[in-house]
Amino acid sequence: VINFASQLLFYETFPQNLFDFEKDLLIIDQWVDQQYPAIAKKFKYVYRVQAGESLKSLTAFAQHVEAVLDLWDQPLSRNHCVVSCGGGSVGDFSGFLASILKRGLRLVQCPTTWLSAIDSAHGGKTALNVKSVKNQVGTFYPAESVLLIKELLQQQGPERAQEGLGELIKVALTDQPSFFHELTKNPELKHEDIIWQNLERAIQAKNKIVLQDPFETKGLRKILNFGHTLGHVIEAHYQVSHGESVLQGLYFAIEWSAKCGLLPEAQSKVIFQSFEKMKLQSWLETNQFIPMKLARVQQLVMFDKKITSDAKIDFVFLADFGLAKVMPVTLPEFLSEVHRQGWAVDV
Ligand SMILES: NC(=O)c1ccc[n+]([C@@H]2O[C@H](COP(=O)([O-])OP(=O)(O)OC[C@H]3O[C@@H](n4cnc5c(N)ncnc54)[C@H](O)[C@@H]3O)[C@@H](O)[C@H]2O)c1
Repeated sequence: VINFASQLLFYETFPQNLFDFEKDLLIIDQWVDQQYPAIAKKFKYVYRVQAGESLKSLTAFAQHVEAVLDLWDQPLSRNHCVVSCGGGSVGDFSGFLASILKRGLRLVQCPTTWLSAIDSAHGGKTALNVKSVKNQVGTFYPAESVLLIKELLQQQGPERAQEGLGELIKVALTDQPSFFHELTKNPELKHEDIIWQNLERAIQAKNKIVLQDPFETKGLRKILNFGHTLGHVIEAHYQVSHGESVLQGLYFAIEWSAKCGLLPEAQSKVIFQSFEKMKLQSWLETNQFIPMKLARVQQLVMFDKKITSDAKIDFVFLADFGLAKVMPVTLPEFLSEVHRQGWAVDV
């Protein structure tokens, strides 16, 4: 039985007494390590990694396993704990490693980016990439606890906070109606403060969905892909961050939900006005926006979803605050809406 309900632990600074510093292995983003050398200093066993998609490469993985095993000068047993300290790439990599070393070591996630704190450190998905295809190999391996450390998270710049907000809004819109209203009631606050204040609720909201469909067999977990269909296309085409892409994907999905009569116009208006008050913007409203070519969108979405041109996509629509609906759409339907909204042009 896998326990998907990781314990959430909130701290101001990295805890002094939670780990066995003589025994546990710290896997840390080397950038974070440079900013906070005090964390690694506590641990006897430290593996420093460079964050990013190349860390999740399947080809490079064997070398990482060998290097980690070489570090240890004591017999490795299943009660050794892997502590992952970094963003989503480090978490996905460390989680996978922990899940297979000795058929499973203990795992604690300490996410350091907003994206990982809100989303990727929870729900138990670990992942490696095969060639350039993301997340093709992985396990379900939830951390026994997730540490949310204010000092580490709050020092990220405003740009990163705006990215985190995309994922936060996604989960808030699909949770109870009161969450979105709560999230947007003080739009003048700094994005990082909005995130910190709503972090625990966002994690609980994701966990609620995960616990109902942990292995993604019922389709419910797909709700968490709200904003991600066009989001992934935007991320790949414009090479921008995941969170910013998801935010743009949310504009698209909400607009489409309203256009097809699922979401009352009045509600989409409230949502877009709240975005505006929080100083978020759809790229479509900026002068510099250069639309994609429709054929490129088709190519990227087929690649992302591993589908053929006549296959259907499970698209996440919004019918109301707190009411996301997963519905199959054809590729031509999706492309035609992308075109109608102006995200792509024909030529
Ligand atoms: N497992 C899941 O459920 C899940 C869900 C969503 C995304 N993901 C994965 O998460 C990854 C993206 O996450 P990410 O954006 O956190 O990636 P990341 O780990 O690549 O971090 C992004 C950048 O932020 C830097 N960074 C880390 N901590 C920082 C800090 N405190 N301040 C400033 N910079 C910091 C990193 O060095 C890196 O340059 C992708 O690989 C994606 O596939 C996984």
